[in-house]
Order: sequence, then structure tokens, then C-alpha cells
Amino acid sequence: MTMMKTARIHEYGDASVMRYDDVPRPRTAFGEVLVRVAATSFNPTEAALRAGLLQAFIPVDLPYTFGWDVAGTVAEIGARVEGFAVGDRVIGRLDSGGAAAEYVRAPAAVLVAAPASVPLAHAAALPVAGLTAWQAVFEHGKVAAGQRVLVNGAGGGVGGFVTQLAKHAGAEVIATASPRSTGAVLRQGADQVIDYTAGPVGAALDVPVDTLVNLVPLNPQDAAALAPLVRPGGRIVSIATPIEPSADTGVSAMHMVARNDVAHLAALVELVDAATLSIDISESRPLADLADVHRLSEAGRTRGKVVIIP
Ligand SMILES: NC(=O)c1ccc[n+]([C@@H]2O[C@H](COP(=O)([O-])OP(=O)(O)OC[C@H]3O[C@@H](n4cnc5c(N)ncnc54)[C@H](OP(=O)(O)O)[C@@H]3O)[C@@H](O)[C@H]2O)c1
Repeated sequence: MTMMKTARIHEYGDASVMRYDDVPRPRTAFGEVLVRVAATSFNPTEAALRAGLLQAFIPVDLPYTFGWDVAGTVAEIGARVEGFAVGDRVIGRLDSGGAAAEYVRAPAAVLVAAPASVPLAHAAALPVAGLTAWQAVFEHGKVAAGQRVLVNGAGGGVGGFVTQLAKHAGAEVIATASPRSTGAVLRQGADQVIDYTAGPVGAALDVPVDTLVNLVPLNPQDAAALAPLVRPGGRIVSIATPIEPSADTGVSAMHMVARNDVAHLAALVELVDAATLSIDISESRPLADLADVHRLSEAGRTRGKVVIIP
């Protein structure tokens, strides 16, 4: 039996529950391919899952192997799979996780060709964060040319894509970031960066925005302080703490949960290959560092996307 390394948990808890187990390399089933993983990427929701905070929303069986994002090459093709060949470079969002491993079984239906213009491991940053950004900007935010958009949390993994996609839609982007992310956010096209560590975000905004995209878990006071920054009739989209609109303003507010969508993922790949969308990799870390990456994220010390290499 061929064995492989994984990063997984047998119980919920702090980052010390992470285990790097050797397990048998999986075989494909009907409709699946086996992917040799070039990288997964860390998403902070995985740290919440590990801590046991998401059992009501994302029930999983233990032991549970991390890794919703995958970038890799097709190593084996299961029955009834068409359109893939061994050696193809692919990416996808795996809703059952598993890509924090040397190999992972993946439903062929969730995979698309990886972008050709970036290292394969970097493309692992795209599925979860990119899909979330795409749906926040286009589906829910309905961001269009000429609008003013406030991106709260632009320095994070999702924020880098939100900033670029809103610019691509022709919006003026005002982004919040701390000094460590200001350069990256400006390179991603933000027209103005507000340092959220320097004082209330609203104090630095002269005119209200059409749309607020919130990507940050906030305390109730900070969430309430953002609502009045949206003009009457505008829109609020949050992927983290829900933000209530101010009374009688006609502002529509929604909290969204991103879904897996290969058409959106393929559109993101096209934008990467057209050099319209860049991928902000802050660090590449080996699989054996995944517990450390969880700790750093929980301490607020990660930014951009961190890719994890098995
Ligand atoms: N609903 C969904 O479908 C969905 C999908 C994906 C993620 N999420 C959630 O959305 C959130 C963002 O995800 P992510 O992957 O982008 O996280 P992330 O990469 O961990 O975000 C970290 C960034 O947050 C920024 N930040 C922290 N506090 C801030 C504040 N008060 N104001 C502005 N920026 C602040 C920091 O920016 P600086 O570097 O500028 O300091 C940091 O770079 C997480 O809570 C995640 O769990 C939800």
C-alpha cells in the first residue's frame, strides 16, 4: 500500500490538535480524479472549523483532513470522467477538504484548468478566496462602472481579489488596510487606502459610498459604524459579521456564503491569464507548518494568501 502525508485533526481544539498522519494514498471513485497536490491554501474559516466553532454549519467526520483549495496535476482518472488526462494542471474548491495531503480525490465536476501564467502552487490561492470575491462583487454587490466601493479588509486573501474585481468592473475602490498591506492593496488598484489602525474608517471618507463589501469579523460597535458610510439606496455585502443598514435609508444589506461554481472559477482563471487579476501570495509554507499557520492567523499575523506545499 502506498502511503502519503496529510494534515488532519482527530478532535476539535486549538492548533495543537493538528496531526501529520501517514495514510494510504486514496483511489478514485466514479466521477473522480486523483490529484497530485502541488499546493492547497490556508483559509481562516479552517481554523474556526478546527476549533469546533462550525459544527452546526459545516459538519465533518473526524479524522478530518484540511484543504478546501487544491492546485495540482491529475494522477489517475476514475470511471465516467471525461475531459481530463493524466498530467493536466487543475485547480478546484473541494467542499469536503482533503487537499492538505500529497494526493486528494476530487470530483471532476469541480475542477478547471489551472492558469498557465502563474506557478501551479500559487493557483491554489484562487478557488475559495476568488469565488467568494467574485460572488461578493458581481452577484451580490452588483458593482458597476462609476460606483464608489468601500472594501473593508482589503489586505486579506479575499480582499485582494475583491479590490481587483471591483476595479475591473470600473468602480472607484476605497480600501481599508494597515501599513503592512498598503503597498499590495495599491498595486491591486485601490484608488485610496484608509489605515484602519489609525482611527475610525468614516473619518477618512469624504463622500458616502455606493457599496460596502465587508470582509472582516467585527465587534458590534465597529459594524454599526460602517453602516452610515453607505449612501441611501446603496448596498452592503458582508462575508463575515452581518452589518445592519441605518434605518430609513433604503440600503440593502446581505450576508453571503460563497458557493462552488466552476463557471466563476474558470472566469477567474481567464482573468489571471489575461494579467487582469494577480495573486497576492504572502508566504509558501510546507504542510508540516500548517498548525503554525493556524496560530499565526488566529493571532492576526497573516495577510494576503498563504499557500501550503505538501
Ligand atoms: N462567507 C463566506 O463565504 C466566506 C468565504 C471566505 C472567507 N470568509 C470569512 O471572511 C473573512 C475574510 O477572509 P480572508 O480569507 O480574506 O481572511 P484573511 O486573509 O485571514 O484576512 C486577514 C486580513 O484581515 C485584515 N483585517 C483584520 N482586521 C481588520 C480590520 N479591523 N479592518 C480592516 N481589515 C482588517 C488584515 O488586513 P491588514 O493586512 O491590512 O492588516 C489581514 O490582512 C474571514 O473571517 C473568513 O472566515 C467567509
